[in-house]
Amino acid sequence: MCGIVAYIGPKDASPFLLEGLQRLEYRGYDSAGLAVVAPATRTAPARLKVCKVKGRVADLAAAVPARFKGGTGIGHTRWATHGVPSDANAHPHTDNEDRIAVVHNGIVENADELRAKLTADGAVFRSETDTEVLAHLIAAHRTDDGELEDAVRAALKLVVGTYGIAVLDAEQPDRIVVARNGSPIVLGIGEKEMFAASDVSALVRYTRQVVHLEDGELATVRADGFRTFTEDARTVTRQPSTVDWEIGSYDTGGYAHYLLKEIHEQPGAVERTLSGRLDERFATAHLGGLNLDARELREIRRVKILGCGSAYYAGEMGAQLIEELARIPAHSEPASEFRYRNPVIEADTLYVAVSQSGETYDTLAAVQEVKRKGGRVLGVVNTVGSAIARECDGGIYLHAGPEISVASTKAFTSTVVAFALLALHFGRIHDLSPADGRRIVSALKALPDQIREILEQDAEIARLAAAYADSQGMMFIGRVRGYPVAREGAQKLKEISYVHAEAYPASELKHGPLALISPELPTVAMVPDDELLDKNLTALGEIKAREGRVLAVAHRPVGPRLADHCLVVPKSEPELDPLLLNIPLQLFAYHAAVALGRDVDKPRNLAKSVTVE
Ligand code: G6P
Repeated sequence: MCGIVAYIGPKDASPFLLEGLQRLEYRGYDSAGLAVVAPATRTAPARLKVCKVKGRVADLAAAVPARFKGGTGIGHTRWATHGVPSDANAHPHTDNEDRIAVVHNGIVENADELRAKLTADGAVFRSETDTEVLAHLIAAHRTDDGELEDAVRAALKLVVGTYGIAVLDAEQPDRIVVARNGSPIVLGIGEKEMFAASDVSALVRYTRQVVHLEDGELATVRADGFRTFTEDARTVTRQPSTVDWEIGSYDTGGYAHYLLKEIHEQPGAVERTLSGRLDERFATAHLGGLNLDARELREIRRVKILGCGSAYYAGEMGAQLIEELARIPAHSEPASEFRYRNPVIEADTLYVAVSQSGETYDTLAAVQEVKRKGGRVLGVVNTVGSAIARECDGGIYLHAGPEISVASTKAFTSTVVAFALLALHFGRIHDLSPADGRRIVSALKALPDQIREILEQDAEIARLAAAYADSQGMMFIGRVRGYPVAREGAQKLKEISYVHAEAYPASELKHGPLALISPELPTVAMVPDDELLDKNLTALGEIKAREGRVLAVAHRPVGPRLADHCLVVPKSEPELDPLLLNIPLQLFAYHAAVALGRDVDKPRNLAKSVTVE
């Protein structure tokens, strides 16, 4: 979703801005733009230059005129919320005198009201966006002898909504003012130059020293440093932190796509999620960030997991793990639904928010709703210091490394591993025996190699995916532990290949979806070698009897009578099998999308982190 970059220093801003925007492309967008302050000449004062287009960053780069010079600049990738994707609606937006330029992530909720007032005062709007309101509003508060930051503070006091913004002023080219409220802004500290962005991935090529703004904070960024302050002009001191993710994590590293790279990074990601957290002596897990001691954990009677998209499905696997290992009722629900239904918050329920980015607005709002009602929330989050991580009372960081591709793979797997650790810890506080604890500890340790084994089947999976890719649609089935696997498998296929995919519990087949089965609608079936094996095989028989094609993902080969094709995956302990059964489905979706010529890393209409309602 929308991205912001900003540069101030001795060099020309636009090459950095364009590169930074390219790094943010993965978040999903439909238009892009830049503004720089062109320095004063002997005959003309400093002035703003703006270039913006509907389309990709490459289209913007082609449109930027050769004479687009200036060492102070801002850039943006827009994901339309107010108004269609168009050149006019792309950011930056300016006031009528082209003195102020603004890029904005988030939503101004009282934009209509502000727009009416500004129009009555003479502002002429040139776009349908809520952001343009900010440009006019800041300009209206800008006095000739005043400071840009004072005008920005005064304007933001009138704004209801969420924002991350970066503001330029043609008459004060020695600074960029940024502000954050609900949409991230991070400053990057360079040598006699400074950067800002909505996401560290835009900055890591230039600096590892960063400062995350808090909600309600602003900063004046100059080439030689920065000052952070509150909306009431109170200075706050922020110490820089060092980004520890490898720069290489932000490249495709020789893979055709980020998605393929991230699928192949899973053994390492799982190792990092587990690192230092397994306790062989007591057959349990150490989770230092929970901020809950054993006594407090014992008082928990229920676990409610909240997340969106793949995070919600990972939560379903997590709920299953917690129920099985700790025997505590656990349930996963879309955070996007939960926040709107006036949820009952119980004192003895532990709420767990799941988010790769830590920015998903629906999940953040759900966390805030739980906290407002006095509930306790843990975060299972990949991005350190993100909004959701900060809002939670404690949690588990995944340490999966940056995930760039829109569709989640390694963060999904690491989330399930994090839940396995939580369930183990919980279980060992309750009635999980030391022997069962040891069984889970050694199964967790074996996962990275087992994932490697599955990844070796890449070529075989690619062949199968190509054979199934032109289907009208696909059915994914699984039973109990296998059902969340089917749901995530269907999600992955539909989001990146656009092939319609539907997940059903195998037990429900004959209660409706069996009517759909035909040679045109193949089924991908989870067939783990567990206590439900016979029941799953019966379901396959029912499908084959109706001429349905079947691709089985199983622990033991399923013969041609029941399945047309079979992918055999290594067996873990039954509680952890879902995690491994999911891996071939990621490769299946990837290769189906490639076979259909899709934009794998940036599927249409989707964004990596959905930072609006
Ligand atoms: C978006 C993405 C999904 C992702 C979901 C949750 O909808 O398209 O792929 O699963 O957000 O993202 P999060 O960062 O909160 O895990």
